[in-house]
Amino acid sequence: SKTRAGVKGLVDSGVEKIPRFFILPPEILNKAPIKPSDDQYSLQVPVVDLGGGIIDHDHSKRRAAIVNEIRVAAETWGFFQMVNHGVPKKVMEDLITSTRKFHELPREEKMEWYSQDVSKLIRFYSYGYLHSSAPANWRDSLACNFQDRPLDLEVLPHVCREEIIEYTKCVVRLKEKLCELLSEALGLKSDYLGKLDCMESKYLLSHYYPVCPEPELTLGVTNHSDPYVLTILLQDNIGGLQVLHQNQWVDVPYLDGALVANIGDLMQIITNDRFKSVEHRVLAGRAGPRISAACFFYPSTANNFKPYGPIKELLSETSPPLYREVHYKEYTSLYVSKGLDGSSAIPHFK
Ligand code: SIN
Ligand code: FE2
Repeated sequence: SKTRAGVKGLVDSGVEKIPRFFILPPEILNKAPIKPSDDQYSLQVPVVDLGGGIIDHDHSKRRAAIVNEIRVAAETWGFFQMVNHGVPKKVMEDLITSTRKFHELPREEKMEWYSQDVSKLIRFYSYGYLHSSAPANWRDSLACNFQDRPLDLEVLPHVCREEIIEYTKCVVRLKEKLCELLSEALGLKSDYLGKLDCMESKYLLSHYYPVCPEPELTLGVTNHSDPYVLTILLQDNIGGLQVLHQNQWVDVPYLDGALVANIGDLMQIITNDRFKSVEHRVLAGRAGPRISAACFFYPSTANNFKPYGPIKELLSETSPPLYREVHYKEYTSLYVSKGLDGSSAIPHFK
């Protein structure tokens, strides 16, 4: 069936008009004006230099400056680009190349991985998010939910297995570091978020956004905020990712060697709105294909039903809790059941 061919299959079949179920209503497409990037007063997503991945534990000036930049970015943008983050460039490039190889496999081979079953940890899927009324997105995806277990080579498609494992290892190390820096940015001990065990599971979702014949009618991915705690994103040089900032869409441009970090909904909840989980989207484009890979971090399986709420140390008479406690499973099911209608799930949860 057509569904099983993915968006890439559709493009390969030579469509000139996109099927109707990809067409988004104008209120979603035009939710906010686009800030032109050639505007000299253009807003810029913060770029944080992590200092070569060797930030020591002493409270050096350099570390304090990095922590402060991360704090400002997490509070105001919910997004930042990272350079000198310690993930080798080759490992990043190999992930992009091999992800592309997977999505460009002969149809029959790729379809062995196809599943609509969201409980499957490794699967290829397409046409947006199932189980919701949201329109389809112009992208195909390979989901690798490693949870909190050791990485297992055997479960992955052959063309991208080593590359995925290697990249995930590196990105987990970067997450550990960010976990400390984000703790310090909240004014907490550097092991605070680590001890909370809210980011022990990892879920790598790699995307293939085919060239689109009518990019103004649809999106690569509709605006949403990420339901997890923290996301580390790798994007290729095509562009199209935008973040909502001061009610404008601002480009998150390709930056050589950079990785993007963004705050997830659960982080906004536990930080009691100090850090923001911000809506973002990806435009469909005439250039491409575009490849990206998002690694989400969330609590370990044993803590699926552990309640997470605003961190006590961040509360006071003047900052009362804005959220009730929630466990991971409850929040993600709320996220899905709300429907991915181009808005964040956060306002639906108090
Ligand atoms: C997403 O947020 O779902 C994907 C981001 C990207 O592809 O750059
Ligand atoms: Fe996202």
